[in-house]
Order: sequence, then C-alpha cells, then structure tokens
Amino acid sequence: MEKLLGMTPPMGWNSWNTFTWEINEELIKQAADAFIENGLKDAGYEYVVIDDCWSEKQRNEKGELVPDHWKFPNGIKPVADYVHSKGLKFGIYSCAGTHTCAGHPGSFEHEFQDAETFAEWGVDYLKYDYCYKPVHIPGEILYKRMSTALRNCGRPIMFSACNWGNDDIYKWIRESGAHLFRSTGDIQDNWESIKRLALSQMGNECYGGCFCHNDIDMLVVGMHGGSNNQYINGESDDQFGNKEGKGLGGCTDTEYKTHFSLWAMMNSPLMMGCDIRHMTDRTKEILTNKEVIAINQDIECRGPYRISQWNNPENVFSLVKPLANGDYAIGMYNFSDVPAEMSLQFWDIGLSTAAGRGLEMHDCWSHEDIGRFSERYVTTLQPHDCAVYTAKVVKL
Ligand code: DGJ
Repeated sequence: MEKLLGMTPPMGWNSWNTFTWEINEELIKQAADAFIENGLKDAGYEYVVIDDCWSEKQRNEKGELVPDHWKFPNGIKPVADYVHSKGLKFGIYSCAGTHTCAGHPGSFEHEFQDAETFAEWGVDYLKYDYCYKPVHIPGEILYKRMSTALRNCGRPIMFSACNWGNDDIYKWIRESGAHLFRSTGDIQDNWESIKRLALSQMGNECYGGCFCHNDIDMLVVGMHGGSNNQYINGESDDQFGNKEGKGLGGCTDTEYKTHFSLWAMMNSPLMMGCDIRHMTDRTKEILTNKEVIAINQDIECRGPYRISQWNNPENVFSLVKPLANGDYAIGMYNFSDVPAEMSLQFWDIGLSTAAGRGLEMHDCWSHEDIGRFSERYVTTLQPHDCAVYTAKVVKL
C-alpha cells in the first residue's frame, strides 16, 4: 500500500541531541551518507533534519530567513539537493515564537513567507518549536497558522509540532493538521529520563494515530554521553533552567534497547539523535532492528494498552498492540532495579482457553520463534531490560 504523508510515524535523524549549534553543510551531508553506509536507509530511516541554529540572527531586507553564512555558505538548497540525491528527505526547524529557543529568528508573523522559502529550498519536514511565544496568542492558533501555510506552500511538508504538551494540545492537535506532536520536554541521555518520558505518555495512546503521532522526543540510543549539549548529557540545567537529571549521563546498551522498544511500541516517531557517522555495532543493531521497526510502522498505528504485573504494577508491565494482520505485538518491560519474573495472562488480551486458542510467539530481539503457548507466557527480565514479541493467534 502506498504510504501517504504522515500515515505512520516518521523515521530519521535530527542534529540537536548530539550537535546542537555545531552544525554545518559538511556534517549534514555526512549524516546523509551515514544513512546509506550504516544501513539506516535500508532499515526505513528517511528524514535528515537540521534543528535550531542554522540561520543568521537577522532576516534579510525582504524579511526572509537567511542561512548562517559560515555553517551553510552555499545556502540550504544544495544541502537539501544532496540529501535528495541519496533518496532521502530533508527537514529543517523553526519556531512559533518571535525567536527560536537559541535566539535565531522565529516564524511568528512570517509563517506564510517562511513556508514558501522552505518549499523553494526543497524542505520535506518542518520541526516547529515553542520558545518566545507572544503571550496574547494561543499556541493552538500559531500551530494552525503554520499548518495552513505549509499545506498551501506547493510542496508536501511533514509538520512536526513541538510545544512540549502545553495548551491542552491533545484537544486540538489532530484537527490542526500537524503530523506529529511533541508531548514531552527534552529527553536526556539517562535511564531516569527515558522512564519518565515513557510513563508520562502511557494513557495518552488514544490521542495519537495515523497522520498525527505522539512524539516522545528524539532517541538517545547510542549517545553514551557524547553530546555537546550539557543538559542532554546531564551536566547542567536545560535551557529553561530545569535541573532534572543533573549529574546523570549515558545509558547501558540494555537501557538503549529498552528505550528503542518503548518508542517503537508506543508509536513514537523514531528520530535518531546520536552521531550516526560513528556508531558501535550494538547501537547499529538496536537502531536497525527491522522486526521492532515493523511494529512501529504497522499501517493501522493502534496505540498499545498496558497490562501491569500484579506484584509490581508500577515498574513491571507489558504493552500490547494489535497489528493490522491480526497478530499482536507484545513488549514486556522491567523498569525496576532487580530481576523480575513476569507472567502475561492471555485472558487479559482477549484469548480464552475454552476457545482452544493460544499464541505462537516470535522474539524480535533474538529473532527466534519461541513456540506455542496457552493461557500465559512467563519470562524473567533483568533490571531495565525488555522483551519484544510478535504473537499469532493459533488453534491449539
Ligand atoms: C527545544 C526542543 O524541545 C528541542 O528538541 C530543540 O529543538 C531545542 N528547543 C532547540 O533549541
């Protein structure tokens, strides 16, 4: 089936987590090359996105945005052309306020002009931030404004609304025309942050879906503390003065695997944030797990429901997601700091033994068929680990 714009969660890479302001033409081209060389394009990643800090601090005399002449001496169009020449799509960043969070010009009162500029440059994706928002205009209006501008600029552009879940976003985001919406503050490269962001969106599954996906923020998989963003590394407060996560930096590969498995099961966009030019084998293996990615990209985009383990419901739970072909995707998670024995009762997902049905399960991390089960599936998970399965309903 042909995929329409925004039908399933976008997959790509964004410059912010690792590089913040240290971006330039060469880096973006190298990132595009890495999509090909490291099998990321093959695995389904598509968008190469430049975040904040790409423009000059002033618009030109016509009121147009101007690319930073040191970082992008040839402008943005040749960079977009290069990305397109690799069979990939190109994304850029702006802000609903007067300035971006890093103090560059925002698109407030320039929405239609900027959308046309982006279309001329060959932009396919716009991330739209929320700093320096004029107090007298509701965020809802500003996102609807840019959405209208993009929908009428003559080029299909995916619209990524990034207001961190403010302004009762769940009430209006779908009708605004945005293809994805950031529901959380900024992620940090530590286990506490991953847990906190994921838990904050459990219960909000009903608001995401085809053409409008709940974005829990970019992935930190494979960063291992290697960012020049001191907040993301846990070394300082964030740009708004938040102190959460200070002193915590980097994750284990097990935690990155769990992070990826959560974002995939929760239908979040999969936007990589590590330095994709230099990944360890394990990072590559996690980010290119096609079986886990297929769950995220299931055409029906149904949000998962949660089944908690009776003896530790806060920290030990399963996420169950019905897939378009009648199978289930099942993620089992241990957020606790000790090993956890888990039991998933099939009764809870709509299977009764009286009907003579059970599940044939496939492990999406070991890539093995693990057999047929009736009534329940029991496993033990190490601290912070997870397991992801696809499960087919079979006659016993
Ligand atoms: C805040 C956003 O949440 C981040 O993802 C990033 O885009 C920065 N702003 C850029 O300033």
